[in-house]
Amino acid sequence: MIQSLAVVKKSERLSDGIYSVWFDTEIARSARPGQFVMVNTHSDAHLLGRPISISDIRKEAGQLRLVFRTVGYGSGELSEAKIGDKFEIMGPLGNGFPLDEVAPETKVLLMGGGIGAPPLLGVANKLKKLGVESVSAVLGYRGEAGGLFLAEDFKKFSNVYIATDDGSSGTHGTVVDAVKENDIQADVIFACGPMPMLSAIKKLAAEKGIKAYISLEERMACGVGACLGCVVKTKKVDAHSHVNNSRICTEGPVFEAEEVEI
Ligand SMILES: Cc1cc2nc3c(=O)[nH]c(=O)nc-3n(C[C@H](O)[C@H](O)[C@H](O)COP(=O)(O)OP(=O)(O)OC[C@H]3O[C@@H](n4cnc5c(N)ncnc54)[C@H](O)[C@@H]3O)c2cc1C
Ligand code: FES
Repeated sequence: MIQSLAVVKKSERLSDGIYSVWFDTEIARSARPGQFVMVNTHSDAHLLGRPISISDIRKEAGQLRLVFRTVGYGSGELSEAKIGDKFEIMGPLGNGFPLDEVAPETKVLLMGGGIGAPPLLGVANKLKKLGVESVSAVLGYRGEAGGLFLAEDFKKFSNVYIATDDGSSGTHGTVVDAVKENDIQADVIFACGPMPMLSAIKKLAAEKGIKAYISLEERMACGVGACLGCVVKTKKVDAHSHVNNSRICTEGPVFEAEEVEI
């Protein structure tokens, strides 16, 4: 894990309240899809870093992409980043998705809801590099008016299906509805998004007998396993606290769906 003074390489607004920032940082060289970084603000009043998933990685160039929604001070400050600005970033943190276990003939289904889609872009990119031919990405949005951010980027690496809450594009409904409507077949699911969506995916995977890995983007404080502010109930007993808990920041954020109680 590295504490890096990362330099903004590119910064753009993707749609309403959604921004993308590419950083030059040595963290990129050891980062894996599904891991996250803690981004410090420049304000003394906001001491804790903000956890943001790594959306895409250019290892050789030493560059990382973060895609985020503005909700408060930290994400607001990051959305105003200009080329050359510097941010203290700690990472890579967490475990990431288990992509080295994916054989080229595996049918992979990526399911991303809203701001849960960004970490799956790096997954799609990596799977293409690994020679995995069948990758479907089902992306859920509120509606076309709010922007189908990253959908075009996903098309470079996967077959893209859209689901919208208001029916303005793709399937009218959830990402699970889109999988059913399009009869998408899969051997493994990688997912990230709001908790109700992840619960529905856990159920879908159990019904179809598919292994599913879900990334939990809940609240965090320290980000490095020290405060127990991010625990989730799991089947596994935690070595640190000796209860059926896992720390999302260190044992996660990616868990096998059947291992976690959500
Ligand atoms: C492992 C992990 C990965 C994440 N990856 C991303 C990502 O790739 N893109 C992205 O946009 N966001 C991501 N998040 C959420 C992101 O960390 C929060 O949106 C961010 O910390 C908010 O900071 P802020 O200073 O802007 O808002 P604050 O001023 O801290 O909070 C403003 C409002 O946002 C709410 N809020 C804060 N954190 C969260 C959260 N985690 N989930 C829901 N609501 C929250 C608060 O309750 C409050 O109402 C991730 C979170 C985790 C734990
Ligand atoms: S955020 Fe502190 S232990 Fe996970």
